[in-house]
Amino acid sequence: MVKKHVYGTPFETEAVVLTVAASSDPFSVGVSSVENGYQFTYEMADTDLIFGLGENTRGINKRGYLYTSYCIDEKDHTEDKHSMYSAHNFILISGTSHVGLFFDYPSRLTFDLGYTVQNQLTVSCDSTDLYVYEITGDSDEDVVKQFRHLIGRSYIPPKFAFGFGQSRWGYKTADDFRNVVKTYRENHLPIDMLYMDIDYMDHFKDFTVNPEEFPDFAAYVDEMKAQNIHLVPIIDAGVKVEDGYDVYEEGKEKNYFCKRADGSDFAVAVWPGWTHFPDFLNPDARKWFGHKYEFLLSKGIDAFWNDMNEPATFYTEEGLAELRPKLQAILDGDLGDNPSRLSATTTVLSHNPKDFSRFYHKIDGKMVCNETVHNLFGYNMTRSAGEAFTELVPDKRILMFSRSSYIGMHRYGGTWMGDNKSWWSHILLNLKMLPSLNMCGILYTGADLGGFLCNATRDLVLRWLALGVFTPLMRNHTALGTREQECYQFEHIEDFRHVLGVRYRLVPYLYSEYMKAALNDEMLFRPLSFVYPEDTHAREVEDQLMLGHEIMIAPIYTQNTTGRYVYLPEEMKFIKFLPDGCLYEEILSQGHHYVDVALNEVPLFIRKDKCIPICDVAESVPEIDYATIQMIGYPDAKYDLYDDDGVTPIR
Ligand code: GLC
Repeated sequence: MVKKHVYGTPFETEAVVLTVAASSDPFSVGVSSVENGYQFTYEMADTDLIFGLGENTRGINKRGYLYTSYCIDEKDHTEDKHSMYSAHNFILISGTSHVGLFFDYPSRLTFDLGYTVQNQLTVSCDSTDLYVYEITGDSDEDVVKQFRHLIGRSYIPPKFAFGFGQSRWGYKTADDFRNVVKTYRENHLPIDMLYMDIDYMDHFKDFTVNPEEFPDFAAYVDEMKAQNIHLVPIIDAGVKVEDGYDVYEEGKEKNYFCKRADGSDFAVAVWPGWTHFPDFLNPDARKWFGHKYEFLLSKGIDAFWNDMNEPATFYTEEGLAELRPKLQAILDGDLGDNPSRLSATTTVLSHNPKDFSRFYHKIDGKMVCNETVHNLFGYNMTRSAGEAFTELVPDKRILMFSRSSYIGMHRYGGTWMGDNKSWWSHILLNLKMLPSLNMCGILYTGADLGGFLCNATRDLVLRWLALGVFTPLMRNHTALGTREQECYQFEHIEDFRHVLGVRYRLVPYLYSEYMKAALNDEMLFRPLSFVYPEDTHAREVEDQLMLGHEIMIAPIYTQNTTGRYVYLPEEMKFIKFLPDGCLYEEILSQGHHYVDVALNEVPLFIRKDKCIPICDVAESVPEIDYATIQMIGYPDAKYDLYDDDGVTPIR
């Protein structure tokens, strides 16, 4: 059951798609107050688990820390952080009752989940204008399903998006991209997508390509398509300020850029240097920007990733003006009593929240400060493209995912988990974010496999790929200047070929489960406690997940190990995809086990009396032969395989 509590005059975020009448009933758990801002408080029972909050650091059970919804370009995904790129204001209290709470509020919102006082849950914001949706149900699963129904169906990507993709910030020339594809294909390493980071553009200008490298871009896209490769260009939020650049000229002329209080176009430095932000909250500007994707669609592109849309800000004129006198004082010898002041002074320049109070959106004819609607920017960038695609390419699904999002964006695209590091702990973080994101509607997701920042090692990439085999978005991506980590950069390429091959063997199952999850408002990845709520061990597991209705995954996320401990809430069949193409199969009883998993093996666990389809290895999604499908798992079990053409939009 869904109740809508209305406070003041909320901003219409359009996160929710169903019409729900306002309720005057009290909350079924907890109390709310509107003195000195809004506050919801709830006394947690010792056994309550708190799920949700989508993209965030720390546990699947979010208890015991302080989180702030405030979209920020945060490159350090460490436990001390309170905010990341997205704002997913949904929590689920799981105890004797099951209660979901969605705080539909577009600016800074704080979730104190037992941080200040261990058993006290407090959600608060400065404003008293918001909607709070309260969802009660019979189980955690039931609450999530109702919430997902409320916010609308999750995005459905094309089937090729379930293949593997290679990326690296630094591929620049037409030959750089060609060589990656050539080396993948020559080594029979399966691949479907090649990502184009900012260097494919002409001086980082959105909706351009470097004319010297790509004089006939449509022909280049075709050349790639002939090898079953989809190019995935990046689109950044900031539009370069440059006289004569059509997107800039048009945006300026039509007043489609965010403004300063004095009405001038707000300038901010990002990759291209000075840029303006399109006003994605203004419906006309949103439509205009979305239709700009046509430039690439018309060249045959059918996939995009939207970036820097928290929005990311390196510096502003205002920030520089504030910094100058402080720097000058330091250069003149005034370090005060703190010799480390110099670096502290300069780091405030980028992603400075003060800058978000310096620009405005035009909404219903009124100027609205970004600070008050901050978390809706990335959502509306992706929405602008998603809405345009239904007009520009009505018969085709387009792959799209975004770095920043708010609840509602899940209807238009997926997300990736941002700039992680080549750290073992980030494999585990990748796993933990999956169910939390799914609760908030984001099904098409994954992390930069191998890690974005820092240098990867062979074993880390292999272990991470063995988790990525299961995530809808399976992409190896890394930053400029880091060690090369394409699958052919390490010794014994055959191990990488095998792990990627396992992904392709699982595509019929993964696609089927993804589509069922999207069409039925369900999660693809569930915490164990959702499936085994009575099992107190299962309720505490933070490093295994249920995937679909048939399997459990338990990836290896520590270096120099030959296996791991795993907890089975019921008897399961332990399967390993061995490098020779055969399967290792063993029935394991309920309880704790140590399972051996070599670096070149992919483990999974099939639930009792279930089975899943696997096919033969293919080197791209269109080459997958469904005639080779066989069932693995428990004999006599049945599986209902969903399939479609993978291209036609489902409305
Ligand atoms: C941001 C993105 C990253 C990309 C880089 C350059 O850091 O998160 O994925 O490679 O910008 O475009």
